[in-house]
Amino acid sequence: MTTPSAAPQPDALPVLAGTGLHRTYRLPRRGPFEPGPVRTAVDGIDLTVAPGARLGIVGESGSGKSTLVRLLAGLEAPSAGTVTASGRPVVASASAAAMRWFRRETGVVFQDPYASLDPRMRVGTIIAEPLRALRIPGDHRELVRRVLERVDLPVDAVDRYPHEFSGGQRQRIAIARAVVHEPRILFGDEPMSALDVVVRARVIDLFRSLADDLGLTLVLVSHDIGVVQRLCDTVAVLSEGRIVEHGPVALLDDPQHDVTRALVAAAPTLP
Ligand SMILES: Nc1ncnc2c1ncn2[C@@H]1O[C@H](COP(=O)(O)OP(=O)(O)OP(=O)(O)O)[C@@H](O)[C@H]1O
Ligand SMILES: [Mg+2]
Repeated sequence: MTTPSAAPQPDALPVLAGTGLHRTYRLPRRGPFEPGPVRTAVDGIDLTVAPGARLGIVGESGSGKSTLVRLLAGLEAPSAGTVTASGRPVVASASAAAMRWFRRETGVVFQDPYASLDPRMRVGTIIAEPLRALRIPGDHRELVRRVLERVDLPVDAVDRYPHEFSGGQRQRIAIARAVVHEPRILFGDEPMSALDVVVRARVIDLFRSLADDLGLTLVLVSHDIGVVQRLCDTVAVLSEGRIVEHGPVALLDDPQHDVTRALVAAAPTLP
């Protein structure tokens, strides 16, 4: 006798899934009667991310890594295909209110800690911003104080401005803002690339300990294979908008595809 299979539990669903993802951009027109050419950034990607997975996305410049992350993070809509989070559709073009559930589950850190922080806002206001926007209940000052401690920044940082901090500290501020609401998924687009090698190693450690403590699912873009080897358990290799290799991070020890071989050969070694 067979037992009827139970309905899938929310946690058994992929925390994130992209199906048939395409993204094209229309470039500026070349003349009054000539439409601009179309550039394909993501060209048919299917990808699922299991809860708690740490996915690294690597590939040469222009291969579509940032575009893919923007699609998965719901920051941009695909030209075709769908993104779901725990089975629910993520609609980048939906209203802020309709997407609040997804924003609560996600945080994003970008490459440039100079450009991503508003220079006119105090650090405390910057970090508290998602708490306000997402209408998280509780004592926001206390939540900000706790996250500052968590990322190893002085608590008096709340009253200071971003320019008063070093590049590594600014990236910690950006990370604090990305996790202050305790998301389930943390996206990073080259979050360590602007940092020197010593600071980079510390920020890698911070990502790892946050992922451990908060049980985060990580989706991390890096052109640096070493960062992915240190931080991720899974890797997807992109070339020309497609995934050419995907699997456990150990595949980087024995790459099968020419693109992966070239990336591994060019990898700088971290101290
Ligand atoms: N907003 C846009 N408008 C036009 N073309 C774009 C846009 N965003 C990306 N592209 C193009 O899509 C392709 C993929 O870009 P993307 O930024 O995703 O690559 P990447 O792998 O992140 O590159 P890098 O390693 O240099 O950051 C490139 O050819 C890029 O020029
Ligand atoms: Mg990029």
